[in-house]
Amino acid sequence: MKKIGLIGCGMIAEKGHLPAIKQVPELQIYALYDHNFESAVKLQQHFSVPHAYKTEEEFFSSDIDAVVICTPAPVHYKNVLDSAKAQKHVLCEKPLAMTEKEMLEMEKVMNDAGLQFYIGFNYRFSQSSIDIQRLLREQAIGEVRLLRLIYNWHLHGKWEVNKDGERVDTPLRSGRMDEGGPLVDCGVHQIDLARWWLKSEVEWQHGIGVWLDTYEAPDHVYLHMGHGCGAHTKVEVSFSYNATSRDPRTHFLYELIGTDGVIRYNREEHSFELRNSHGTQYLPWNPEKSFVGMYREFVNALATGKTGDMPTARDGIIVSRIARTATEEAIRNRDKPSSKNPSSQLTAADVHVLSDPEEIPIDYIDLPMKPLEIHEGHPSFSSPLQPIKSKRDGKKSS
Ligand SMILES: NC(=O)c1ccc[n+]([C@@H]2O[C@H](COP(=O)([O-])OP(=O)(O)OC[C@H]3O[C@@H](n4cnc5c(N)ncnc54)[C@H](O)[C@@H]3O)[C@@H](O)[C@H]2O)c1
Repeated sequence: MKKIGLIGCGMIAEKGHLPAIKQVPELQIYALYDHNFESAVKLQQHFSVPHAYKTEEEFFSSDIDAVVICTPAPVHYKNVLDSAKAQKHVLCEKPLAMTEKEMLEMEKVMNDAGLQFYIGFNYRFSQSSIDIQRLLREQAIGEVRLLRLIYNWHLHGKWEVNKDGERVDTPLRSGRMDEGGPLVDCGVHQIDLARWWLKSEVEWQHGIGVWLDTYEAPDHVYLHMGHGCGAHTKVEVSFSYNATSRDPRTHFLYELIGTDGVIRYNREEHSFELRNSHGTQYLPWNPEKSFVGMYREFVNALATGKTGDMPTARDGIIVSRIARTATEEAIRNRDKPSSKNPSSQLTAADVHVLSDPEEIPIDYIDLPMKPLEIHEGHPSFSSPLQPIKSKRDGKKSS
């Protein structure tokens, strides 16, 4: 049994991490700390946690094996350095830190202390993500050429009403926008998935921003990435999509396009399908993230010392760098007419020389699997999926 301490008792601790830790028998949630002690006590009572501490010193000197960091991004650097000093393994929420220098230092300090250091890219552990990875391995859509990964949402709306009756931006919005905006905060999950699914590094990239809001960072971002394997990924992510609408809607979509078909996952429609030359297969839909899956892998990593599928700090550093570079590129080119908007200055060498809430829709967290839905007129084919041979197999391309 590994004892877990959690620092930062806010939204994601309550809705994502703590319920998941409680579902993994080899883990015990043992200690909590928040600089607002009342928040720690509230979650201590709700999740029956043995200890909630008033000071960081008491928390770090308690009998815990690992620290889960759920504080805001600017606090992660200090939390990780304190964990290393106290000889505790770390699972840190994304984004890892505010600058690359900090992230590299965090990684080095943890490595030097001989400790494991992971980042909470929990989208990898959704059963649908795992199914996509298997389908790509089986070449179910031939050679993958393009991923379209879209997450456009409202970040719980733009405004709240202050005590003077004025409409002001929510603290969540101003905080997340000041930390880098939607690509740095949410889009990092999509960037991680693209690298993870394709097993191929990003060799070049181009970021474009759209400003509906008034922050320095763009609130609607396009990122185009070129992978070493030749595939492209387009990420589109927004915090301002329907942010002022009375009845907001959200788009959350994955489309993986290959030489023989398309895999399409739509969170809002709860649909997940594969269309290729064999026909159409309707796959069981699952929520886009799994904290429970992440903790099952985390406990394996702690027990064996082997990373397995856990996203490492290095993954976090590479992904954050891509997201921040694209956001900075968008800001730099904000006032240029699009015809003069240069393509990225980031080259393969830059990427490889690294030594570095969104709303959690509650309904989407680790829900039990939905039964397979077969729609009339679109029968799911029953034979197991066969790998599809490329026409060019064994032949030189012309
Ligand atoms: N992986 C995901 O799906 C996902 C989703 C949402 C948020 N997040 C990430 O989780 C982190 C936390 O987000 P949240 O929405 O829960 O934020 P939140 O503001 O709801 O909670 C943060 C908590 O940290 C506490 N805190 C702040 N500074 C502290 C300090 N110096 N020491 C101790 N406690 C401190 C606050 O009191 C608060 O309780 C962020 O990095 C965010 O990007 C991840």
